[in-house]
Amino acid sequence: MSRGVTCSAPGKLMLFGEHAVVYGRPCIVTAVDQRMRATISLRADDLFHLEAEDVQLTGYEKSISELGKGKIPRGAAFVERAVQLFCEHTGWAGGVSVEMRSEFSALFGFGSSSASTVAVLSALNVATESGLATEMLFDIAYKTVLAVQGKGSGFDIAAAAWGGTLWFVAGGEEVEPLNLRGASIVIGYSGIKADTVTLMEQVRRLAQQDPALVESVYDSMGDVARSARRAIDECDWKTLGSLMDINQSLLASLGVSTAKLDAMIGAARAAGAYGAKLSGAGGGDCMIALVPVGNEQPVQAALAAVGGVALAASVQAPGVRLE
Ligand code: PMV
Repeated sequence: MSRGVTCSAPGKLMLFGEHAVVYGRPCIVTAVDQRMRATISLRADDLFHLEAEDVQLTGYEKSISELGKGKIPRGAAFVERAVQLFCEHTGWAGGVSVEMRSEFSALFGFGSSSASTVAVLSALNVATESGLATEMLFDIAYKTVLAVQGKGSGFDIAAAAWGGTLWFVAGGEEVEPLNLRGASIVIGYSGIKADTVTLMEQVRRLAQQDPALVESVYDSMGDVARSARRAIDECDWKTLGSLMDINQSLLASLGVSTAKLDAMIGAARAAGAYGAKLSGAGGGDCMIALVPVGNEQPVQAALAAVGGVALAASVQAPGVRLE
């Protein structure tokens, strides 16, 4: 077996435009400094072997030609599909061992699946000397997500691949770096694990009832993202905070906020945040608050007072890298 190649990729937080981005509007996403590590070793046989203790998967093995076939355990889905699509794209047919290690809990909704997918593809790219560019790794990773969960904009894949803070349009149609220099973001976990696919389905059903109305909500979300991009360029944090508040109201109108998220968002605003909103599909997971630099502690205390958990993670983390 070859010496291992390890790559790590960051998690993500949606700043603006969740849900609307699935329907063609732009969003703004930032990478968080919680990383997923993948180690790839090439094998002399033709087996795919996976060790992923964080998701209680050890010694999972099948032939490379069988990838994607038969029953795939939940914890193996993204990695197995990623390796399959990589092999299909490059013609690689040799055996590979994959070892996954996570720095973050899959509970927070930081995007452990997308970070795993990008870390695996990047390590495979190096180990097999395939020389694929980041854009191609993004495309294969995005196909992986669509193969596993059927739907999604790929914003989380983009954050894992490029890192930093990005302006993003679904499928990678637009990926442009933004700079959050000097902005301070407090992250609060609601304690409730949300299921992104269920939430997306709930919003799709709502849109079926009144397509024109929901389309107009998506349009407004797109406008908010465009204004937010200008505010970020101008380091205008007060305006950015109010745009977060507007985005939150639009998300609440789609029915994806929860009483707990509302309480945390209200508490953050009352403790001096410029603005606050849920981040991601909603239904639980995390909220974010934009706060004046130096005012993080009172906002974190306010989140704790309503039963939230302030997470110590920083934003605008570097994208996938060789370790
Ligand atoms: O729940 P999260 O953090 O994975 O965010 C989902 C965001 C959506 O816009 C609802 C879906 C997507 O793929 O963009």
